[in-house]
Order: sequence, then C-alpha cells, then structure tokens
Amino acid sequence: MAIRMSKMAFQQQLQQRLAALDAKGQRRTTRTVDCLPGGLCRIRGRELVNFGGNDYLNLAHEVSHSDQVREVFAAQVGATASALVCGRSQWHEELEDALATFEDTEAALLFPTGFAANLGLISSLVQTDDAVFCDRDNHASIIDACRSSAGRMLVYRGDRLESLEESLRRRRGEYERVFIVTDGVFSMNGRVPELGLICDIAERHDALVIVDEAHGTGVLGEHGRGACDLCNVEHRVLARVGTLSKALGGLGGFVAADATTIDWLRNTARTQFFSTALPPAICAAMLQSLRIVESEPTRQQDLAQLTAFAHRQISELGLQTVESGVAPIVPILLGDEESAVRISSHLMDAGWFVPAIRPPTVASGTSRLRLSLTIGHNEQQIKQVLASVKALIGAALTKCKAT
Ligand SMILES: Cc1ncc(COP(=O)(O)O)c(C=O)c1O
Repeated sequence: MAIRMSKMAFQQQLQQRLAALDAKGQRRTTRTVDCLPGGLCRIRGRELVNFGGNDYLNLAHEVSHSDQVREVFAAQVGATASALVCGRSQWHEELEDALATFEDTEAALLFPTGFAANLGLISSLVQTDDAVFCDRDNHASIIDACRSSAGRMLVYRGDRLESLEESLRRRRGEYERVFIVTDGVFSMNGRVPELGLICDIAERHDALVIVDEAHGTGVLGEHGRGACDLCNVEHRVLARVGTLSKALGGLGGFVAADATTIDWLRNTARTQFFSTALPPAICAAMLQSLRIVESEPTRQQDLAQLTAFAHRQISELGLQTVESGVAPIVPILLGDEESAVRISSHLMDAGWFVPAIRPPTVASGTSRLRLSLTIGHNEQQIKQVLASVKALIGAALTKCKAT
C-alpha cells in the first residue's frame, strides 16, 4: 500500500532539514537593502559602503534618470507575452541589434535573465549523443544547464587543463559533439580562465567552446566585451553569454553568436520562448547603458585602476586572496565559515557591507569575504576596509593564542 504523506508531516521534514542547515551554520536568511548610487547602500536605516553589488560601472541608478526610459516605463510595464508571441517590442529588437554590434557577432538573442540564458543555450545545444565539459567552478546556472541537458556532463578543473585534454583524448570518439563551457570570470574568486589554452585544446580535439561573460561584459578587454576580448579568443568560441544585470546595471541575459546558432536558439531554447520577454523599459535602459559603455571607456579604466589598487593593498597587508586577478571581484580567503561570518558582521557594524561566502557556495575550508568593486568606490575606502579586515583577523589570532 502506498504511504501517504500529510502536508504537516512534509513541513516537519522541511523544518528538520532547515534545522540541520542551521546547525552547520549554512541556513540562509534574506535582508532588505536599499542599494544607493555611488557604491553605497542602506540597511535597517544605516548607510554602509556596499561591496556586495555588481553594479561595476555605476549604471544601475544613472540610466533610470533618462527621459526616454521613464517614457517607455510610463507607457507599459510588462511585455505581456514571450518574444515569440507578442512580447518583442521595438526596444527588444533595437537592443538585440545593438548587442550584436557591440559584441561584433552576427546576432544576439535576449533572455529574461543570465541564468535563463545559460540554461536555454546549453540545454538546447547539448543533445543526446553529445558531451559537455564543465569547469567545476562554473556558476550554478551553467552547472544546472549541463545537468539538465540531454548529453553527458563531465567536470574538469580549470587549474588542471592537461587533464581536460587527456580526458578529451580518451573520450572524444564516444560523442558526436563535445562542448567546453566556462565562466569568463569566476564569480566566487574573480579568476579569468586560460581561454587561449582552452581554445587550443578544443581545436585539437574538435570541441566547441562557450563562455559566460556575466562579470566580464563592460569590464574587461580592449572593447569592454569581456574575458574573450581580453584573451583575444572571441572568434574562436561558438557563443558568448552575457548578463545585463551586472556592469550594465539592469536585468536580463543574452547570447551573442553567429546567425545560425541564434536562429536555432530562437527555435529551441525553452527558457526564451516559454517565458515572458523583458519589460520594454529595461531594454530602453540597457540601450542607454550600452551607449555609455561604448562612449565612456574611462569608466572601465577607472575600475581597472581600483582593482589593481586593491590587489596592491592586499599584498602589502599580507592578506590571502584566491587570485591576483584583473576582475573587480576581489576575494579574501579566511578558511573557516565562522571567521568569515564573524568578520563580515564586525565590518557591517563599522559601516562596510562585505558579504561572507561559505559552503555550499564554495568548498569547505575556503570560506572568504568577497569584495565587488565599482567605480562608485574610491581608494581611501578600499584602503580602510582592507585595513579593517587585517585588524579583525589579527584580533582573532591574538584571542586564539590567549585562550
Ligand atoms: C557567472 C554568472 N553567470 C550567470 C549569472 C546569472 O545572471 P543573472 O543574475 O542575470 O541571472 C550570474 C549571476 O550571479 C553569474 O555570476
């Protein structure tokens, strides 16, 4: 006889699981934050310097003041349907054209979010007889996309590309098509993968490369197109995923690729055509953001200078970072979860919002603080917050030795 579970019994099970997360210090709670312009935020009435957001170029508040964006928003909030039905307005069309021009690809296709772009792209390209090699540090949206594709998912380590190649040498013959998918900037440590080497390996073994530029768009490379631009491999990769939610300050995702791949996605990417299109005003705002990115390269240069400054400070203070990278994601490695949470909380008391990143988001023993730099920040703030981190680590060590 089938066992029936009551709603109450099920809720009790969930409560037990939540309590288990609590016991491991892994239970998440939400906070309410007003993100303010200029790298600030307000939490429970207190103004803090915000090192938690991804508004790298300070555009999230700026483009909302545009008369055009206000006009489009006043006329219509929701897109009312998916792009395939009647949700694709003149603003969507203009934005897709502008993104293709910016990315120097034949075409671009909008998705409701960057998460949906990865999910739609990968699950529509990777078919039953295929394999997809996924860097173990990839964003959750890529991992979920690889898992939900019809093909075989194989995980590789970005710091051991020779084993990726060895795996391809051994197994390439088993699959019809093979894809290698990587973040252009890893969101938990700011690392930029060795894209030139990955493309060399792909070309030697007839594999296709996909790069997620979520944290690179508008931030890295000669044209501000991201990690592929920086590593000069743009035309060696099959498709690039971008988000409108980080340096461009809005919401949405896109895929930039050749016209045939985009046409295939338009026909098969379920997260695109089974989901309502982006609000037209967001598209109008993102057109403004793109124009600013293209016409004001000093924003990208200022961000690069702040990033280099932060890394110099980190090395002068003897703090441990995961990578001395070029991306504005700057991690400070602390090890145990408890220290990361405690130091983040002390920093908050002192007026700095610096999130603690801990398992399951990162591997056990690698908990860290993560500073996301924006051009709203200045060197003085970076110097002070890093000095505070150093002092808090020092205070904890002294306490440990005394007990
Ligand atoms: C590397 C990476 N890819 C994709 C995404 C998802 O983008 P979105 O927030 O636009 O859904 C994120 C967001 O955190 C990310 O860090």
